[in-house]
Amino acid sequence: MDKYAVLGNPVNHSRSPAIHAMFRDETGQDMEYGTLFCPLGSFRETADSFRSGGGRGLNITVPFKEDAFRYADTLTERAKTAGAVNTLRFNDDGTVLGDNTDGAGFIADLKRLKWPVSGKRVLVMGAGGAARGILMPLQEERPLMLFLANRTVSRAEALAREFPKIVAGSYEDLPSRGSFDLVINATSGSLSGTVPPLPDDIFAPGARAYDLMYTPSGMTVFLEWALSHGCCQVSDGLGMLVGQAKESFRLWRGVSPDSERVLKALREMLRAEA
Ligand code: ATR
Repeated sequence: MDKYAVLGNPVNHSRSPAIHAMFRDETGQDMEYGTLFCPLGSFRETADSFRSGGGRGLNITVPFKEDAFRYADTLTERAKTAGAVNTLRFNDDGTVLGDNTDGAGFIADLKRLKWPVSGKRVLVMGAGGAARGILMPLQEERPLMLFLANRTVSRAEALAREFPKIVAGSYEDLPSRGSFDLVINATSGSLSGTVPPLPDDIFAPGARAYDLMYTPSGMTVFLEWALSHGCCQVSDGLGMLVGQAKESFRLWRGVSPDSERVLKALREMLRAEA
């Protein structure tokens, strides 16, 4: 049986095995998908040993996405842009393909929500790996403007320089930038219950807010703040998680599972556990 896993440290909390088990059951693929704990500093050895034991592919989570980037023999364009790999495919000819499906998963989730980007004023908060992964696909959707705000401005500026049309600045710059139609939280602030310092009138009429992080209830501190400051619709990042998994599954197995059904089941599973 073809073997796949999510590799990380920590990795026990990962929902990927549950998602891929649902994809497998739906598509009838003959495969198994587990978790693979990787000691820090041992990425290559861990990936090599999984491969020699019959592994066909890996998802990669923190903190190994850059290691996976270096491990791959060939990289997709989107992996090159992201500078990180979340999906490895071990080809029959012995080569390793590195891909990054995070951005595609994010855009797929915006499409599921029917939240247009084209012609909209979009604000992305954060300048780490999570932000980097969504900038190119967001730009390809042709927003009217894409502003990147970060606590450490130099990081936002450095990141924005890699993209032709992105404007970078601090949170203090935002009042002079007007309101936004879509505000995306790509900071790790939600993990510590912190909302970035946004102006109270940041949301344009009909605006939407997306948090790349997910929770069982679908709410985060940022999304709660958004709803109490005039934002119309909010979404956490569970749909993005399922979306990136669907793209990985397609890369490995050549078939696309029904991600809406899986997202619904996963939400119910998380709620029941909470
Ligand atoms: P990731 O790979 O998940 O993006 P990261 O590279 O550590 O993680 O980046 C975390 C991002 O969240 C950074 O943009 C960080 O801002 P700084 O670059 O100024 O550190 C941002 N962040 C974390 N905690 C934050 C907070 N309390 N308020 C605002 N931004 C925060």
